[in-house]
Amino acid sequence: MCGIVGYIGSKNAKEILISGLKRLEYRGYDSAGVALTSDNLDVVKAVGKIVNLEEKINGFKKEAKIGIAHTRWATHGAPTEINAHPHMSCDKKIAVVHNGIIENYADLKEKLQRKGYKFSSETDTEVLAHLIEENFKGDLLKAVMDSLSVVEGTYGLAVIHADQKDKIVVARNGSPLVIGVGKGENFIASDVAAILSYTDKVIYLADKEVALLTLKDVNIFDLTSRPLKKEISKIDWDLEAIEKGGYDHFMLKEIMDQPQAIKNGLAGRASVKDGNVHLGGINITAKEFASVRRIVITACGTSWHAGLIGEFLLEKLAGIPTEVEYASEFRYRNPIIDPGTLLIAISQSGETADTLAALREAKQKGAKTLGIINVVGSTIAREVDGGMYIHAGPEIGVASTKAFTCQVSSLIMLSVYLGRMRNLSMSEASNVLQELLLAPEKIDEILQQAQKIKKIAAKYCKYSDFLYLGRNLSYPVALEGALKLKEISYIHAEGYPAAEMKHGPIALIDPDFPSVFIIPKNNLYEKTISNIEEIKARSGRVLAIAEEGDNFIQNLADDVIYIPKSHEVVSPILSTIPLQLLSYFIAIMKGCDVDKPRNLAKSVTVE
Ligand code: M6R
Repeated sequence: MCGIVGYIGSKNAKEILISGLKRLEYRGYDSAGVALTSDNLDVVKAVGKIVNLEEKINGFKKEAKIGIAHTRWATHGAPTEINAHPHMSCDKKIAVVHNGIIENYADLKEKLQRKGYKFSSETDTEVLAHLIEENFKGDLLKAVMDSLSVVEGTYGLAVIHADQKDKIVVARNGSPLVIGVGKGENFIASDVAAILSYTDKVIYLADKEVALLTLKDVNIFDLTSRPLKKEISKIDWDLEAIEKGGYDHFMLKEIMDQPQAIKNGLAGRASVKDGNVHLGGINITAKEFASVRRIVITACGTSWHAGLIGEFLLEKLAGIPTEVEYASEFRYRNPIIDPGTLLIAISQSGETADTLAALREAKQKGAKTLGIINVVGSTIAREVDGGMYIHAGPEIGVASTKAFTCQVSSLIMLSVYLGRMRNLSMSEASNVLQELLLAPEKIDEILQQAQKIKKIAAKYCKYSDFLYLGRNLSYPVALEGALKLKEISYIHAEGYPAAEMKHGPIALIDPDFPSVFIIPKNNLYEKTISNIEEIKARSGRVLAIAEEGDNFIQNLADDVIYIPKSHEVVSPILSTIPLQLLSYFIAIMKGCDVDKPRNLAKSVTVE
């Protein structure tokens, strides 16, 4: 995720900013940059690692005492030097670094362009630099506040001005920003890890707050310029704990990140009002979509499981026949692709070798292609005709968690988008989007049960084999639950369609072979209950993931984890969360290295 660092004081700002950026490296980034004010405002940027920026900036001999810096994890526009932050105003006097997404940037950009402002990057952030320039009448704080009054979206931002060398203005709405308070110097950061070696006294900026930092003072205001009194807190975490957001492992942090990650993906896209989804990068016209007769989804691992859910969604909401293929299989047969075939490649990393090869094969045969990708500017993202980024943020744990739920959320949006070009009614589309927008809150409710799930994990961690069972949309969830358990705890686990179990796997059932059932209250509920009965009749132990209000299941299952009720298309997102936590806790209890499981790599770039 993007990172921000800023400094105002009497020391060499360049060194403090670079060391702060290095502290943020663990979060993932693709480019970086700094802006320093001395006799004038200088901006230096580099693609790739911080060392590249460091090499470039070493040639910068002026000693600046004020500066802002940024690591970018691309969301709008490829990871290039031009798109890297800081972004500058046309007069080259204002520099801005920004985390978050400006949702109305297209509208603001058009208005500014009409006034003659020239844009050089593809980013949403650049509008802020020009907007502040437009509003600047000698007072930087006021110019930032006036600009933010027309901005919609999320931001953690910092601004400096060449003619106002005694201040940094920062603001926050939905993207973290912390102010480090020193003696005769002050700091800013998107994450305390960046400044903890300089000060442990911090002020956490809340949403819709703006701060003016000078050498000696920190003054905080609301967006109407009303001064606010804020408490200074003392940080007593060590650096390693901070990098993981206070969690013991990246995997747990990423599980806990999911409400925000899904919100980020929905921001500015899902519109309940008009029952539609606004997607910027699809690059396929409505006429071309009208000629699509069939969709083929290709992916590997967890992303393939998301694809299975996508198959159901695209058929149900968009009415387009859909198949899902393991990329590694697709590429080695002679897949039938005609001009009516749309290929969707799903990949967190955007670099998986098999998925990339399958994509190339389909393109060569004339298919239109879309990507559902997390890493902006990755190879698959660059090679597809169009697509959507899932905006999950960097996923560091090898086991995919937040990328999966964000992929499913994106597939729901894509299905509504395509459905609205066909026969999906506005009211059904609005209903689905409304339910999807409620998902982050419902995930939060499930995450609050972490301690209960930990106790259940303690009961189950002694078993060495598991079956995961579900029907319909819960079947891919079962596959994903089983994959999560086996890859991080090395326990044997298999996912099956619940009804298929009696055609073979039921032979395995005994008191030491538990089954995890995903059983939402839908039209297959009674049939799934019968499948549970079949397991119980063979003395099998059952853990059920069921919906709140389902009291009946308590009489049948040995243990139940409840999730909130939801629309059937959203339920796979919710039912996945307890399975992630269950695997995590079981793996921890077995002493496994959950973030780096043996034999696995985060990005599989070999066949
Ligand atoms: O980056 P991708 O989504 O293309 O990766 C595909 C699989 O390697 C990946 O989903 C893998 O199965 C997960 N790490 C499992 O948690």
